[in-house]
Amino acid sequence: MSRSLCFLALTLLIAGPAFADGVPADIPAGMGPLPGVVPAPADNPASTRKIELGKQLYFDPALSKSGNVSCNSCHNLANGGVDNQRFSIGHQWQRGGRNAPTVLNAAFWSSQFWDGRAAQLEDQAKGPPMNPLEMADDTAEQLIARLKDAGYEPLFSEVFGENALTYDNMAKAIAAFERTLITPDAPFDLYARGEGKISAAAKRGMYKVEELGCTGCHAGPLFTDNSFQRFDYGTDVGRKAVTGNAEDDHLFRVQSWRNIALTAPYFHDGSIATLNQAVRVMAKKQLDADLSDKDASDIVAFLNTLTGKQPRVTYPLLPRPSGKALDFRD
Ligand code: HEC
Ligand code: HEC
Repeated sequence: MSRSLCFLALTLLIAGPAFADGVPADIPAGMGPLPGVVPAPADNPASTRKIELGKQLYFDPALSKSGNVSCNSCHNLANGGVDNQRFSIGHQWQRGGRNAPTVLNAAFWSSQFWDGRAAQLEDQAKGPPMNPLEMADDTAEQLIARLKDAGYEPLFSEVFGENALTYDNMAKAIAAFERTLITPDAPFDLYARGEGKISAAAKRGMYKVEELGCTGCHAGPLFTDNSFQRFDYGTDVGRKAVTGNAEDDHLFRVQSWRNIALTAPYFHDGSIATLNQAVRVMAKKQLDADLSDKDASDIVAFLNTLTGKQPRVTYPLLPRPSGKALDFRD
């Protein structure tokens, strides 16, 4: 073999397969397609019936004290898993102090919420029903009694066995459903697998985020390293409220870039309306970089390639009692 052929073979071996158009994949280190497998905890294996029950619960406003608020009110699956509001509307038109992140791909997080206060989806799902600003149930017993009246008991038994209508099992079913809410095959993923193209602007943006150092935090296939980083931008102390440690003051979880084109407004306080502006704020605050118009729009072009195939969710029929009025309150 000649030296140049030898070199070519070695290059192919290192760089992997060439693209359809002959351009090598050359994706910055760490970036890659969304994983196809969603991790699930050993004590909550998925089943078709459990996922269906979780979907019913997810869409059911009977989880709320007023009978008006469902998970889908704030995490609308027709709409990127968000409500596009700065602060979501919950019980009696109240608004909380944080922007609702998407439930799409939430299964991949190593902690839930902007401050990481829940470890996994099962823990997270127990939050909203008891949150006075969200679903506002007074006690888990009140909620479970209402779900019983709504006709859920046989559905829980089918999935979890005897005496199965519990708060924990409610959370497990919802979490199992949420693990189906993933968005594969974004244009970037197809590009990374050598199955599609992205625009020249998007490619420039892809290299730019690496050059600038965005990928120091927004790393890996989810474009987050799951760490907590300082984001001094208001009165919310972030992770400090969870751990009590002074060094966690104003730390927030590095947000994923997956489906980010769908999830405006941006940041934990929803203070920034457009992606272009969000990218500039990040560059300035985290990296002290003033982006040119071209760099900002190239980065936005890249972020736009991260919108994956949205889950097609058919609206479930909810179980309902024979003529029994549910216990909804103000
Ligand atoms: C009134 C609006 C509202 C309702 C109702 C609501 N959420 Fe949320 N959700 C939010 C907000 C706001 C946050 C972020 C709160 C924070 O980080 O402190 C959030 C966070 C989450 C997260 C964490 C995502 C992440 O990126 O860490 C998941 C998952 C989630 N909600 C699922 C649900 C489920 C399941 C339900 C129904 C049981 C539900 N939510 C009901 C507003 C809502
Ligand atoms: C030091 C770590 C770090 C670096 C570097 C960094 N980010 Fe971030 N990024 C974060 C954190 C933390 C958040 C969440 C901030 C918040 O809202 O509290 C975030 C949020 C974002 C958001 C908004 C996400 C949403 O859904 O609201 C965008 C867009 C973003 N970053 C883009 C970038 C870009 C582009 C760069 C490079 C110019 C960059 N980031 C560099 C840590 C970082």
